[in-house]
Parts: sequence; C-alpha cells; structure tokens
Amino acid sequence: MNRIFKSVGIVGTGRCLPEKILTNFDLEKMVETSDEWIRTRTGISERRISQADIATSDLATDAALKAMEDAGVTAGELDMIIVATVTPDTAFPSTACIVQSNLNAVNASAFDIEAACTGFIYGLSIGEKFISTGDAKTVLVIGAETLSKICNWDDRNTCVLFGDGAGAAILKEVEEGEGILATLIGAEGWKGQVLTLPAGGSRMPASVETVKAGKHYIHMDGSEVYKFAVNIMPLATQRVVKKAGLTIEEIDFLVPHQANSRIVQAAAKRLKMDSGKIFVNLNKYGNMSSASVPVALDEALEQGLIKKGDNVVLVGFGAGLTWGSCAMKWSK
Ligand code: UT7
Repeated sequence: MNRIFKSVGIVGTGRCLPEKILTNFDLEKMVETSDEWIRTRTGISERRISQADIATSDLATDAALKAMEDAGVTAGELDMIIVATVTPDTAFPSTACIVQSNLNAVNASAFDIEAACTGFIYGLSIGEKFISTGDAKTVLVIGAETLSKICNWDDRNTCVLFGDGAGAAILKEVEEGEGILATLIGAEGWKGQVLTLPAGGSRMPASVETVKAGKHYIHMDGSEVYKFAVNIMPLATQRVVKKAGLTIEEIDFLVPHQANSRIVQAAAKRLKMDSGKIFVNLNKYGNMSSASVPVALDEALEQGLIKKGDNVVLVGFGAGLTWGSCAMKWSK
C-alpha cells in the first residue's frame, strides 16, 4: 500500500550547453556596448548560443539523458516529464511530449510549464507532490531554453543578457527527513508587463506587421525586474528556510537564479550570507531562464560543493512575474 507523504529528493542531475560561445567582445561588434559595461552591470562575460537547427527539445533531451544516467534510471521508469520553458519548440505539441518521444519514455505523462526563470523550481514543486502522495515514482524535471531565438540582436538592453542551455533532475523517493524539505512558489501577475514577448499568442497573433515591429522578441524594463528581484530573492529564501524548520545560518549552499551578479550580491547582503556559500556561474552562460538553476546545481555538484546532508536552497524569479524557492537536505 502507498504510504502518503513520502520524502522526495533529487537523485540525479545533468546539463547540456551548446558549444558555440558568444563573448562580450563579439557583442561589441553587433551592438553599441562594451565588455566593461556588460561585466560591471551584470557579471556576464560570455554565453552559449545554439545552432540554427537546434531546438529546445534537443538540449532538453541531452540534459535528461545525463540526469537519467546519473540517477541510474531508464526511460521506461519515468512516470512524468515536466519541461519548464519559455522557448518551446512549438506552441503544441509540448516540448515535454517531444522529449518523451526522443527518450521513448512510453510510461510517462508529459507537459510543459511556463513560469519563465522560476520554471524549474515550479517543476520541482509539482513533481515532488506527485511522488510524495504516491501518484508517481520517478519524475524528470527539465529547465531548457534557446533564448537566442527570441532575442532581438539589435537591442543592447536585452541581447547581452541571455544564453541557451538545459538542465535536468530526476526526482525519486528518498530516506525520510532527506530530500526536499519545503517548496514555495508564487506570482505577482499584476507586474507582468515589465517582461514580455508580446506577439505570437492570441492577444497579438503573428503577422508581417508584428515581425516588422520586433514584437516577437523579448521586451523588458530591466530596472523594474531588478527591483522585484532584489526584494523577492532574499524574501523567498527566508520564507522557505523557515518553512523547512531551519535558519539562514544552517544553510550550507544557495543556488540562485543566474540573472545578474549584482542581484545575487544584494540578496547575499540582505540574507547576511557568506558569498562563498552562493553559487554563481552566470559569467560563463548569462541568463538561461528556466535552465539557469538546474545547470548551476549540476555544476556545483560536479565541483563537489554539495555533500550528503547539506542544507541546500534553490531560489529564482522571472517573467510573470513569478518567484519560487526550494529547501533540501541533500540525500546523495
Ligand atoms: O530572469 C529575469 C530577467 N531579467 C533580469 O533579471 C533583468 C534585471 N535587470 C538587470 O539586470 C539590470 O537592470 C540591467 C542589467 C538590465 C540594466 O542595468 P542597470 O544598471 O539597471 O542599467 P540601466 O537600465 O539603468 O541603464 C543604464 C544605461 C542606459 O543609458 P542611459 O539611458 O542612462 O543613457 C542604457 O541605455 O545603460 C544603457 N545600456 C547599455 N549600455 C551599454 C543598456 N544596455 C546597455 C548595453 N551596453 N548592453
């Protein structure tokens, strides 16, 4: 019989990053910007760009295969595939269904979620509930993006910030008291207009005019997003830590959404957290939206920065506007 409320943890991770590197110096030749401006305002030095014939599902599938290998899980064991993305291959079928087909994961349900940069944390929260209640045993959560395809490469306000990539995690039942201790997800939809992709949906169907006006690209009021981020990152961290029955001092490692190193530093200061406990890799990849957190987690694990028994927090924010956090006792 199923025991309700099982403990659920991440038992494997993987990532996929396109090989092509676009540096700040390359961008200097494309728009009126400088390596100095980009580095001092954002912390970003370079980002990865996928080839023209590569779609989000290709990166997602590769990251998934690595996470499955890390977890020792076969495609047939997957009960659910959740893909968090704002750059799906197509409006439908979902990117998750394309990944399911690529993996031949015939026993899985598959769906996309759209919570922008917070998407992976939303996905973890959903997957955890299914396993915790006994409705699933093995869930694959992926954050995958090809943001280079929706960037306006003539707009220096946005094109310097984003990059492509995918990260994946396998969720399974773990020992009681380990794994995910608490998750929190939220949204402030009334602030949504500060970060949008206006055309191509039912409000503004794609047309020659929308393309000419560049409405199929990312539009952002950077300073408004910045204000939201510096406030919500520490708040979401504090709240999930409290929900998990821990204190900030007891957190061993924080993996924040990788948008801007100034946002991460401001959050660290508000939390009074030693910056050595906070993982940053945005210098190499820029902001990969939903892929940022799982790619950062996978790299931190690879570098041996997270050990079994560590209290780890993931925190993110993004378009919507959305936010989310997840506190875990690392179980592997
Ligand atoms: O995952 C969520 C996605 N978004 C974010 O996380 C974005 C959050 N926001 C930010 O990271 C920052 O607000 C930015 C990095 C986008 C901008 O930094 P800022 O310090 O807030 O700069 P600003 O918007 O105040 O712009 C300062 C100046 C402006 O010129 P004027 O109007 O003062 O003459 C911009 O036109 O910098 C100019 N500027 C640039 N200059 C050189 C904007 N982009 C560039 C650029 N190169 N790439």
